[in-house]
Amino acid sequence: MKWQGVTLCPAKLRRKSLVAQRKSLCNDEPNRKLRDTGMTPTTCSTSYLIFSASMRHDSLNSRLAQLAATTVSGRGGTVDIAGMRDFECPSYDGDVDHADGPPLGAHALCRRIQAADAFIIASPEYNASMPGALKNAVDWASRFRPQPFNGKQALLLSASPSMVGGNRGLWSLRIPFEHLGARVYPDMFSLAQAHQAFNADGALVDKTLQDRFESTIGCFIDLVEAAKHYPTMKKQWVEFLGEHPDARIDRVETAPAA
Ligand code: FNR
Repeated sequence: MKWQGVTLCPAKLRRKSLVAQRKSLCNDEPNRKLRDTGMTPTTCSTSYLIFSASMRHDSLNSRLAQLAATTVSGRGGTVDIAGMRDFECPSYDGDVDHADGPPLGAHALCRRIQAADAFIIASPEYNASMPGALKNAVDWASRFRPQPFNGKQALLLSASPSMVGGNRGLWSLRIPFEHLGARVYPDMFSLAQAHQAFNADGALVDKTLQDRFESTIGCFIDLVEAAKHYPTMKKQWVEFLGEHPDARIDRVETAPAA
């Protein structure tokens, strides 16, 4: 088959058709410039909650979260940037939950996750795992119905002065999010020796790493956009605790189309 005088195989044709659809979805100036340089454009209609899971004032993860926010908004995404203090919660206590419901920090996390198409977290690694404050806030927020993480696209980042860059913490963080039905992006970005990785503008000194960071974010945005505009999958979340199927106690939620 031919497209603009070029012979195309069916797969290429489908791709050209998708590209044409995307161009019509977003015909704004920044994306036109990106297309002219051969880079992937994005639509202006996807939104992201981005936050650092560190409470530290001079946090390396907050710097990485800020770089992610700059990169996402540079590609036309709408960014809601937050800090872990916005989601501060006392330790989860079932009695408090039963008597008073979740604390304000959990309400804030739930509301801001629900308002976004996707979320990006830059998380420190503590003792080869995730920070307790983050897990605790996720536990509280998971008590809301509809459960806010279900069906959300997620990208995990980490920064550490160490050589592993906090990557082991991200593997542990995947577990609760995947359990809760979030679509955790397969690639993760871990910044090793982060204390000397940023330049004065907040970008990465190493150009190869900066390019890798941008392409990871760009590919994630492509997926978020596709999930939002081509919602063909049925999205169900089942909280499976090992019991036999029973309609009376089934905890099954179907996510709204992205
Ligand atoms: C750490 N740190 C750390 N780093 C790492 O790469 N692997 C680890 O297992 C740990 N464990 C650990 C435990 C505890 C209790 C603390 C306080 C720190 C170091 C940590 O990654 C470093 O302090 C980062 O700079 C913390 O992230 P922020 O606050 O800079 O974003």
